[in-house]
Amino acid sequence: MDGMLANIGPSGSKAQSVPAGVVVASPSKNNPDYFYTWTRDLSLVFKCVVDKYSSGQYPELQSLIQDFVQAEAVIQKVPNPSGNFASGGLGEPKFNADETAFIGAWGRPQRDGPALRAIAVISCASLLNDSATVLNTLWPIIEPDLDYVQNDWNLTTFDLWEEVSSSSFFTTAVQHRALRQGAALAKSLGQTSVAISYSTQADNLLCFLQSYWNLKGYITANTGGGRSGKDANTVLASIHTFDIFAGCDSVTFQPCSDKALANLKVYVDSFRSIYRINNNASSGAVATGRYAEDSYMGGNPWYLTTFAVAQQLYAVWNAQGYLTVSDISLAFFRQFMPSVTAGTYPSSSSTLTSAITSHADGYVAIVDKYTPLNGGLSEQHSRDTGVPLSAVDLTWSYAFGLTALDAKAGKTPESWGASGLTVPAVCAPDNGGGSGGGGGGGAPSVSVKFIETVTVDPGESIYLVGSVPQLMQWNANNAIPLISTNSNTWKVSVSLPTNTHVEYKYIRKANNAPWESDPNMQLTTPADGTVTEHDTWR
Ligand code: NOJ
Ligand code: NOJ
Repeated sequence: MDGMLANIGPSGSKAQSVPAGVVVASPSKNNPDYFYTWTRDLSLVFKCVVDKYSSGQYPELQSLIQDFVQAEAVIQKVPNPSGNFASGGLGEPKFNADETAFIGAWGRPQRDGPALRAIAVISCASLLNDSATVLNTLWPIIEPDLDYVQNDWNLTTFDLWEEVSSSSFFTTAVQHRALRQGAALAKSLGQTSVAISYSTQADNLLCFLQSYWNLKGYITANTGGGRSGKDANTVLASIHTFDIFAGCDSVTFQPCSDKALANLKVYVDSFRSIYRINNNASSGAVATGRYAEDSYMGGNPWYLTTFAVAQQLYAVWNAQGYLTVSDISLAFFRQFMPSVTAGTYPSSSSTLTSAITSHADGYVAIVDKYTPLNGGLSEQHSRDTGVPLSAVDLTWSYAFGLTALDAKAGKTPESWGASGLTVPAVCAPDNGGGSGGGGGGGAPSVSVKFIETVTVDPGESIYLVGSVPQLMQWNANNAIPLISTNSNTWKVSVSLPTNTHVEYKYIRKANNAPWESDPNMQLTTPADGTVTEHDTWR
């Protein structure tokens, strides 16, 4: 914990020059220069600190949490190359340590940042038992981040490694969590219509999340990038969306779900032969990195990814008292018990329990082996010799160590509402990174983007309804809400059956619900491709 706190200003010994609550990624100022504050790194660190504080063991962390909240309230409003507070600036990946904008070239925007920050600040809300205070102090920080996520989740983003611009599993997964959790908080604060609109987009994100699973039996990390797609991105997503009440549900890729475990094996195996320090080990724990094709700063193993593998494995038994081995996860389990067959195995009687736990310990042992005597955790360690490389004292390397050891100790972060979720039958497809939303299956469909220009009165929203089941067959009570992207533009994407004549209308809903004047609008969907309808309110 000391290594992590040393990089947080101004009391941290390695961050004395920076404002209160600002987390620098590393004290390293050259090769690489990491003396910046990244929204992703700091939000994961911040969440780790809040979880530590919630355990009751570290009351001294309270003022640091207040500092974080205040620093982020400032940083959110700093105009930057991605935009300003209301026009996309929340997606800016990093800021100078003095809270000013970084204006150099960079992979931007990175849309995981606002989601991760919202998750961290929402976790602070449960520390306060008083909704008026939450509404006045935290909600003004949470809501803009969640609005950003709900409006723009389907646009292209740079991935968490700041390299590939497409759609990205980690980003989608944390966006889904943020909106799901945000909807529950909004509801508890009496923000009913906000809650409804966050849950609508959370459903769409959950749909889209399914599409990253591929037929080769793992999660493709990015829709772009031209790589194998085997990537720590997916493991980080699984551990950071762990929900103790969700069991081993594969819909949210819980750490013990069959899909996440199958994926973990494929990911780990991709490093067995490429790092000399792994000695081509065909089984057992090995050092892992971001992804096999990586060449950044030598493309070495990362401490935090190896910790992440351990954390996922420790979490396996934290969710429920039994495991189900399915055809999807069979290869994962056969690493430990070659004779295992599909079925259900209780934690009490199973040799799998100890095998998986000691496998997890193996990853922690690897990190220990390559940690220097002073305990410093840098970003990488040499693939050939194991010596530390790249940024020294990387703040989130320490955070990953802490959360992995908490998982080992059976300490689980609070639930975020992943339990019992089902994938909606109709998915609003992703429009940015390619590959459409999954989950629906069945008949061929095309994505139709409806864009309506209309100026609404305060409190009014725009909905869409029409002649086909996907448009709720003219049932105005179930009409599909559009999202406002600026003061007079509203949009939504809907999957419609191909080659079908469709009639539709927009509706304004507030207290009463006037419909647009006649006649109905119409379109005929093509056999494939995408369609955009530009309309203006009548
Ligand atoms: C800097 C980024 O921080 C790192 O993730 C990336 O690999 C390199 N740029 C190369 O694009
Ligand atoms: C490069 C990593 O790829 C990125 O994920 C991280 O945010 C920065 N370094 C800062 O640690």
